[in-house]
Amino acid sequence: MTRARDTILVTGARGQLGYELAAALAAHGDVIALDRAGVDLADADALVRAVRAAAPAWIVNAAAYTAVDRAEAERDRAFAINAAAPAILAEEARRSGAILIHYSTDYVFDGAARVPYDERAPTAPLNVYGESKLAGEQAIAASGVAALTLRTSWVYGLRGINFLLTIRRLAAERDELRIVADQTGVPNWCRALAEATAAIVAQGRDAVAERAGLYHLCAAGETTWYGFARAIVGDVPVPRVVPIATAHYPTPARRPAYGVLATSRLRQAFGIELPDWRSLLQRCLAEPAEPTAQKRVA
Ligand SMILES: NC(=O)c1ccc[n+]([C@@H]2O[C@H](COP(=O)([O-])OP(=O)(O)OC[C@H]3O[C@@H](n4cnc5c(N)ncnc54)[C@H](OP(=O)(O)O)[C@@H]3O)[C@@H](O)[C@H]2O)c1
Repeated sequence: MTRARDTILVTGARGQLGYELAAALAAHGDVIALDRAGVDLADADALVRAVRAAAPAWIVNAAAYTAVDRAEAERDRAFAINAAAPAILAEEARRSGAILIHYSTDYVFDGAARVPYDERAPTAPLNVYGESKLAGEQAIAASGVAALTLRTSWVYGLRGINFLLTIRRLAAERDELRIVADQTGVPNWCRALAEATAAIVAQGRDAVAERAGLYHLCAAGETTWYGFARAIVGDVPVPRVVPIATAHYPTPARRPAYGVLATSRLRQAFGIELPDWRSLLQRCLAEPAEPTAQKRVA
């Protein structure tokens, strides 16, 4: 007799991570991938209805309000999507016995550290986005549901809005790129994050439920935005990549000067470890151009 496949509900299916998750998780269950048109996370009733209709064994929440600067002026909306919606998902997962996988950010930290943050390090977000993501983490933890909250950083890929695509566009337009060199962190290819998530799901519901909690999921190594830009542009004379200080690139939201995440807890619990960010970047850059069709999105 064949075992029934798990239903895996993925939110944020048109986002960088959500799109990759819908593909990576298909090997482990029947994926229902919902984009914003499928469910608006700011609409609590619609969110409850969508989860109950899907009746998933897993809820993988890749939807988020990720506009870090805009969040300074849209606090309520950021909190609705990044804090209230995860609380609802946690409650629905608890009610139905589903396992929740959620993502958070290094921006929960103030960046004053100079060694990688582990999961017990005190949080102190510098901006509204970080505050709203921290509130989401806390709501999930308080619910008592079997959940994994995976903090990551500097997500990029070949779709959506991200630093890699911005640098590629600017490199084609300008002779010189002036890039912040005093913020240190780790770039993460969304494909690698999705594959790591799928490797966790592959271990099964019981294994994940036993090891529920907060984990850092992040590539090895570290760099600055300047170092990341240089790695994207490659060893070419034009455009010149010039390091600048954060003070010379003012933004509405303050950002942590340091956001490297220590990942040994994830390795010990699930045997999962991402390679160095540079090797993942090379893999990403070797990918063919993105397909225009979005057939995986419901
Ligand atoms: N991007 C980063 O650098 C970064 C860094 C650290 C952690 N993270 C975390 O990693 C996770 C995935 O981020 P990502 O980079 O994949 O973000 P993303 O590319 O911005 O995708 C987020 C998705 O959420 C959707 N969304 C936003 N508001 C929604 C709403 N009200 N209802 C339904 N869907 C909504 C967006 O839909 P639309 O496409 O319609 O806007 C988008 O597709 C998030 O939890 C994020 O906080 C990201």
